[in-house]
Amino acid sequence: MGRHLVLALALTSLCIGLVTADWNILKQNRKHYGLKSSSLKNYCESWRINVEINNIREFEVVPQECIDYIKHYMTSAQYEADSQRAIEEVKLYLSTCCTMEGDGKDAWIFDVDDTLLSTIPFFKKHNFGGEKLNTTLLEEWMKESKAPALDHTLNLFNEIKNKGVKIFLISSRSEILRSVTVDNLINVGYHGWSSLILRGLDDEFMKVQEYKCWARKQLADEGYRIWGIIGDQWSSFGGLPSAKRTFKLPNSMYYLP
Ligand SMILES: *[C@@H]1O[C@H](CO)[C@@H](O)[C@H](O)[C@H]1NC(C)=O
Repeated sequence: MGRHLVLALALTSLCIGLVTADWNILKQNRKHYGLKSSSLKNYCESWRINVEINNIREFEVVPQECIDYIKHYMTSAQYEADSQRAIEEVKLYLSTCCTMEGDGKDAWIFDVDDTLLSTIPFFKKHNFGGEKLNTTLLEEWMKESKAPALDHTLNLFNEIKNKGVKIFLISSRSEILRSVTVDNLINVGYHGWSSLILRGLDDEFMKVQEYKCWARKQLADEGYRIWGIIGDQWSSFGGLPSAKRTFKLPNSMYYLP
């Protein structure tokens, strides 16, 4: 009996010893890798991913605690790599997807902002989406026609054009911005699209998704086969008629419903 007790006590203290040792290792590691900042990073990364996969919708501002994270992401090599990968997937799809009939009815749709052109220079001055979007200020910036091209998309644009596919640009920019938008697109190297579709005064009452569906319906009614859409907003893809495939570019600075 006594012997068992001693043995049990010895085992217990050994276990406590091991547990304490583990705790110390954990503590040291936590200290070493800075658990606090890494859990904020995890939180913001998961916010961003859930925006991208369309679980988080209709956000008006980037959460305050994630502004630095989003700023870092949108100006990082990772954002470039993510965009480039999306473009490569479009090219892969195009290499096998479609029997182009060459009758002038093969079509592809692009968004404009943060698809062909980057609004990052504007959002740099506005907390990368961490403050509520002021449309007046954004439109003033657009009127300067100084948005840079997203180079990977420019490359894809030319490839699609060279296949003889007609390119349609469907943007939620206002009709009022037509000439500054055309200037901007041409200045940075885009030319040869078939039509630039912008929101007229009547369309301003529609949600972006409704308006974009309406625009695709016009194309479908004219007999176009829409092989694909590439855009940075989920509202560019939803509703009918759709396209054979859609490709999402990353954008965690703003959400267009
Ligand atoms: C947007 O910015 C303009 C110019 O600074 C300002 O006059 C206006 O009040 C702002 N609008 C909103 C909704 O904050």
